[in-house]
Amino acid sequence: MVENIDILQGFDWRNLSAEQEYDAWKKLKLKIAEQALDLPPVAVEDIANPSESERREIILRCRMNNYAHYATSSDSRDPERTRHDLRAFAAAFGLKIAEAHRSAEEAGIVALRVSADPDKRGYIPYSTRPMNWHTDGYYNAPEDRIDGFVLHCVEQALAGGRNQLLDPEIAYIRLRDENPAYVEALIHPQAMSIPANEEPDGSIRPVSTGPVFYPAANGRLQMRYTARTRSIEWRDDPLTREAAEFLRLHLQQGDPLALSVRLEPGQGILNNNILHNRTGFEDGQDARNVRVIYRVRFRNRVEGS
Ligand SMILES: [Fe+2]
Repeated sequence: MVENIDILQGFDWRNLSAEQEYDAWKKLKLKIAEQALDLPPVAVEDIANPSESERREIILRCRMNNYAHYATSSDSRDPERTRHDLRAFAAAFGLKIAEAHRSAEEAGIVALRVSADPDKRGYIPYSTRPMNWHTDGYYNAPEDRIDGFVLHCVEQALAGGRNQLLDPEIAYIRLRDENPAYVEALIHPQAMSIPANEEPDGSIRPVSTGPVFYPAANGRLQMRYTARTRSIEWRDDPLTREAAEFLRLHLQQGDPLALSVRLEPGQGILNNNILHNRTGFEDGQDARNVRVIYRVRFRNRVEGS
């Protein structure tokens, strides 16, 4: 399974005329993406201090599929402890926490739960409503791009709250196979703009314009995307609109290589900012069935991936 994995790191996704290289890379990507769907989560005994073999397995999975589903037996519900553990976990993978976020409660670590807090009211992440496909921080300024994040579950909802996740390299394959010009359109530096927005604290978040596909520091493909159709401006070009519509419909219809997971307490997904969504959910009366997910965003990819 890992014999020719070097192809993955060296693949030049911006070269749309190298057919042979593309075919070899695609064949490998599709094979390992399918295998990944059947893998059990990586067992991590102590999330604050992953062992060398646990760490290696998580890095390998991120290198192959841009995500790793893990399961730890830590069942702490203490927010201080959880924040400490997640900081240590991130450090074990060389990840730099993105500090600046309006809801970062402490050092860039955000607890996602239903909230009546005025700062969070009206924001879907803090409600029970479903969330459409996106990558994190798609509205950030280019210099504040998010290249990775972790979702870590402390409590499950009474019902619902399922995540679907899709490796952007698979989305790239779907687009390129439909029409290579779609990929080219989405690489354009003005492909997608998110208009300026007034934040709850009264500050203005400036317009965010950039590509959908861009290279990470190591050259691998990163994605900046939202499936929303309001408050978004696609570049005024027929191919760009077609590409965006194709991708939106493809995700809506469901990619067979998307992972569908209802995270259990102690489980999480560490990833290189892959596409994801969330179904709506219903919380219970008891604290044990009120959904709490910690999210930490990173400026860089998982080390070695
Ligand atoms: Fe997200």
